[in-house]
Amino acid sequence: MKILVIGSGGREHALAWKLAQSPHCEQLYCAPGNGGMAKIAEVVPIEETNLSLLARFAEEKKIDLTVVGPEVPLAMGVVDEFEKRNLKIYGPNKKAAEIERSKVFAKEFMDRHRIPTGRFKVATTQDEALKILNSGEFEFPVVIKADGLAAGKGVAICPNIKRAEDTIIEMMVKKKFGPAGERVIIEERLKGRELSFIVLTDGVRIQPLVTTMDHKAAYDGDKGPNTGGMGAISPSPFVTEKLFGKIIDEIIFPTITRLLEEGRRFKGTLYAGLMLTSDGPKVLEYNCRFGDPETQVQMLRMESDLVEVLMSVVEEDLIKDEIKWSLNVAGCVVLASGGYPGKYEKGKLIAGLEEAEKVPGLIIFHAGTSLVNDQFYTNGGRVLNVCAREATLQQTMKKIYDSIPVIYFDNMFYRKDIGAMREIK
Ligand code: AMP
Ligand code: GLY
Repeated sequence: MKILVIGSGGREHALAWKLAQSPHCEQLYCAPGNGGMAKIAEVVPIEETNLSLLARFAEEKKIDLTVVGPEVPLAMGVVDEFEKRNLKIYGPNKKAAEIERSKVFAKEFMDRHRIPTGRFKVATTQDEALKILNSGEFEFPVVIKADGLAAGKGVAICPNIKRAEDTIIEMMVKKKFGPAGERVIIEERLKGRELSFIVLTDGVRIQPLVTTMDHKAAYDGDKGPNTGGMGAISPSPFVTEKLFGKIIDEIIFPTITRLLEEGRRFKGTLYAGLMLTSDGPKVLEYNCRFGDPETQVQMLRMESDLVEVLMSVVEEDLIKDEIKWSLNVAGCVVLASGGYPGKYEKGKLIAGLEEAEKVPGLIIFHAGTSLVNDQFYTNGGRVLNVCAREATLQQTMKKIYDSIPVIYFDNMFYRKDIGAMREIK
């Protein structure tokens, strides 16, 4: 089979790496790909948002399966564009992807169907938002969310009214997140431990992926601004069998079933961002795609053939046998550019990769790199994902952390506490 992966991050490198191991995969393309993907696939310089060009490329090359990584092309309707041309593509269509594209849609959907989530109100004007904030209905800190895709940055947790009012002005008046600021959600702050719960579904049946724990804050001790994720481990040490069953019964199944009933059959990866509160698990948000860096640790543990698994979703006949997983523990530490998630510089030479790759069992996925004259350069905020899979969490993290010092680029930083167990505040 000829397979195309759309995207250019660590998640897509991990998917491409796993797809390439399948005996079904004869030729692999990545668009636009990154430096690391260029080593295992043919990279095609088509942006992930250029839907018609992507579809035309797939048609010309007779691609048998396209796998979409990021949310933006899904929200734009890349699946609809491909299906119109009878091309097989993995991911939800535009209507189903609405669950991530619009936070207002997702919150109202959960409210309609009594899927557990934080209490909230929607405001469509600045006045309305200020009235809600001053009504005393929500205690501080309060959560304010812009209604759209903002790469995980459109959420503010405001400790007092001043910060809340400033946030409303930034989102609704100054349009910091563009049209996403036309509507905002004001939401109660939930307390507890966060959990990413990710399943594959053909719209009717589900196959859960192994559990993961993501580390979203930029700095050690969960300090600093939220990022796309600075590291992950799998399995999550906090998910008991009982909790797993509760999440499936109260959140995942109702979500899939109600979407189907509302004419939004969801085929692809459903990612529920959850808060484990003292009241039970509640949904913070839905994503319509694989997680990043959660996918990196999941692909390291997957033993089944990813091509067969994804094709079964596309064909609306999800594999019946459970996906097979290694019992080992996988870990991933993100090496980031100084300044991320704010402003950062690109184009720094990366040294030491060849040496790091000699460490047995160490796997390096590229997130934001470019390959120029056989040299790797930084090309994004999250640059590299240093990963391993060993018998215990301690062994896994030791292998990763012992290997990182051989890699170098200007202003590189990373969290030193990925996988460290800690009580939550
Ligand atoms: P979201 O994009 O909605 O997942 O929000 C990004 C991050 O903001 C989440 O991963 C949480 O850390 C935080 N967050 C979002 N909603 C809430 C909430 N209601 N209470 C506490 N934290 C939240
Ligand atoms: N790691 C968070 C996400 O993929 O949304």
